[in-house]
Amino acid sequence: MISKPFTARAHTNIALIKYWGKKDKQLILPMNSSLSLTLDRFYTDTEVYFDSDLKQDLFYLNEEKKDAAKVAHFMDLVRSKSELKAFAHIKSTNHVPTTAGLASSASAYAALALAASRAAGMQLSLPELSRLARRGSGSASRSIYGGFVEWQRGHDDLSSFAVPIEENTDWNICMIAVVIDKARKKISSRVGMQQVVETSPFYPAWIKSAEHDLTAIKKAIKERNLKKVGEITEENAMKMHALNMSASPHFSYFEPATIEVMHLVELLRSEGICCYYTLDAGPNVKILCSVEDSKEILKRLAVKFDKKQLLIAHPGPGVQLINKK
Ligand code: PMV
Repeated sequence: MISKPFTARAHTNIALIKYWGKKDKQLILPMNSSLSLTLDRFYTDTEVYFDSDLKQDLFYLNEEKKDAAKVAHFMDLVRSKSELKAFAHIKSTNHVPTTAGLASSASAYAALALAASRAAGMQLSLPELSRLARRGSGSASRSIYGGFVEWQRGHDDLSSFAVPIEENTDWNICMIAVVIDKARKKISSRVGMQQVVETSPFYPAWIKSAEHDLTAIKKAIKERNLKKVGEITEENAMKMHALNMSASPHFSYFEPATIEVMHLVELLRSEGICCYYTLDAGPNVKILCSVEDSKEILKRLAVKFDKKQLLIAHPGPGVQLINKK
């Protein structure tokens, strides 16, 4: 038996209010709610079909056979929810420039959640898809929707999922990704956030402050106040990175060039350009700004960075099924 194949496309997202810490490692329930912007430029296409002749799941990424252990764990979850017990062929293509260093588990698990559930004969609602994607990677719960998205932390498996804040935003904003290092992260987000939860004396303050930032940024988004959204975004990211520096052992994702970009953004701001940075579990910097200002910012970045290191993205759509070519 071979099931009908389904192919899904999901875009990556960048958190403006970060998810940094789990309350439940198995269910992937976060300590705090988070909020992100889904981007148009970077996405993953994933095709899934089940095959009763297979002895295990087979996983291909960009046409290369990969170790399927993590993906198989996720597929077990899909199988446990459906009637279908066969193993699957899973083929993913990451549409992120190979030099980007931005490959994201968010788009990967959001696309896999939709393709695998449909191939298994399930028609999950968007909140159900978000809950399923969450089990692959927390941030994937948010890539189910486009535009601005909030992942409501909830208190159990049923109540922890993402909701759209503004799916089809007509706001003329963008994010410039400055790619500093495309190597794999030295400390994965899973290990980094756990170390922080267990050892940072500032962790309780983070939870309180992140909830406060979330309320404030939702208001600022509604008011189309880029200055306010940017300030909250940048400060929230710095609080997350301060947690890393206060963990034991302490760690940091910053490279010298990371700080150089941060200083340039601050300089541009002092010249009256409205731009703000955010950083995730790696040294690359993402700059939030208006489309109008992006040209000048790119020009200034191009003095120090190669064109290939500068990628511009706009708000993107939620997960969708696509026709196979
Ligand atoms: O979803 P994960 O396990 O890759 O963790 C994502 C963590 C951050 O990117 C740093 C923050 C976020 O909310 O996306």
